[in-house]
Amino acid sequence: MYICSQTALLMSLFRKKKEVKPDLGTLLSELNKSLMLIVDKSLLINNFIAKVKQICAIDRVYIFLLDENTGKYKLQNSEGKAEWVLTGKDKLINWLSINEKELIISRNPAIVSYFSKEEQAMLEAMKAELIYPLKVMNHISGTIFLGRKTDDTAYMQEELDLLFLMFNQAAFAIEHASLYEMQSDRIRKMYRTDRLATLGELAAGAAHEIRNPLTAIRSTIQYLSKDFKDDPLKSEMVTELISEVERINKIVQGLLSFSRPTGLNMAEVNIEQLINQTLVLAQTKLQNQQIDIQYEYFEENTTILGDAEQLKQVFLNMILNALEAMNQNPPERPRTLIISIEKGTAINTNTRNLLISFEDTGKGIEGSEIENVFNPFFTTKEDGTGLGLAISYGVINRHEGDIEVNSIPGKGTTFIIKLPQRQ
Ligand SMILES: Nc1ncnc2c1ncn2[C@@H]1O[C@H](COP(=O)(O)OP(=O)(O)O)[C@@H](O)[C@H]1O
Ligand SMILES: [Mg+2]
Repeated sequence: MYICSQTALLMSLFRKKKEVKPDLGTLLSELNKSLMLIVDKSLLINNFIAKVKQICAIDRVYIFLLDENTGKYKLQNSEGKAEWVLTGKDKLINWLSINEKELIISRNPAIVSYFSKEEQAMLEAMKAELIYPLKVMNHISGTIFLGRKTDDTAYMQEELDLLFLMFNQAAFAIEHASLYEMQSDRIRKMYRTDRLATLGELAAGAAHEIRNPLTAIRSTIQYLSKDFKDDPLKSEMVTELISEVERINKIVQGLLSFSRPTGLNMAEVNIEQLINQTLVLAQTKLQNQQIDIQYEYFEENTTILGDAEQLKQVFLNMILNALEAMNQNPPERPRTLIISIEKGTAINTNTRNLLISFEDTGKGIEGSEIENVFNPFFTTKEDGTGLGLAISYGVINRHEGDIEVNSIPGKGTTFIIKLPQRQ
């Protein structure tokens, strides 16, 4: 139905302009097909942007979508600036929610002048001409910004009608893709929790079994070593044996802390301070590898109820992993670790999430490996234990929080930790 009405509209539009655009029908039906078939959100958005540009001869199309984690509207394009962010409190979003219709910048200078300086600067940088709210079920799920047309003529009413038709359709398709993404995310997490709980039980059992004989081996070696004091070769062998035993001991300890069933020492902890203390621990390594650390602390109140020692362990794992992921970077690639803390969305009336993220510019994680990184013993490093993330997952889980990972191979990785914070 849409295809017909859109094609008819387009045809009438181009008949007026006396232009022949034979592939227009194809373009439109392709757009409809892709909107209906693609469930991958970013693919869908990129496809949609490309088609809008193609159909209407526009250079600039930006799509912002509401991020359920933070309540902010974030840019989804590959082009544009990451710092372009809008919130529900901004006047622009406010205007769109109240008016529920398009805003054409050149025709409404008075409205634009009512926006904040930052919003105006953003519109200026985007060279935006047309703004349209993506509305699904009574809330603004996103916003589309269009630049001027490449021939610099004004948008005609027929063009606008066509665009709005496409935008409304896109809003539903994007919502559908978001819901699909959320659902598969939940299922993946459910499996992960289940898998890790089972592995945790296994690991705890094995660790207990190993620990006792290990203690016996260690003390026996130490006892026997007295006899070899005068033989340098044998002493060296003994030292080596002990260091191997130490290594096993460390793994066993890791296993135990991964599966430690209870034992949170809860107190008020200031996450910002905790991260700073952790950075001091890793300072030498960070300096040696010339890692540039950037802080994006958007939230003033970073105090939560948690186990400081265990959380410190988690942050240290994040920092060391980021560092290790960047140490193969060629000299021209930046080695940047961005640590950010921001307010998340509410969980219930008196609790909301605090989001802590670690974003590196390291080698990234292959798609086939990303589901495995939280598994105990999964490692891609020669001297890795594969326990850091498994332990971190356990700690965050016991805090009733959540940990997520996003990665682009060859570009970098972001770990996002959500911890509940009482208001
Ligand atoms: N920031 C990161 N960048 C790229 N890969 C990572 C990152 N963090 C973790 N990984 C991957 O996850 C694996 C497991 O990490 P972890 O549990 O800390 O164990 P380990 O560091 O001992 O390998 C790593 O070997 C690596 O392949
Ligand atoms: Mg690690």
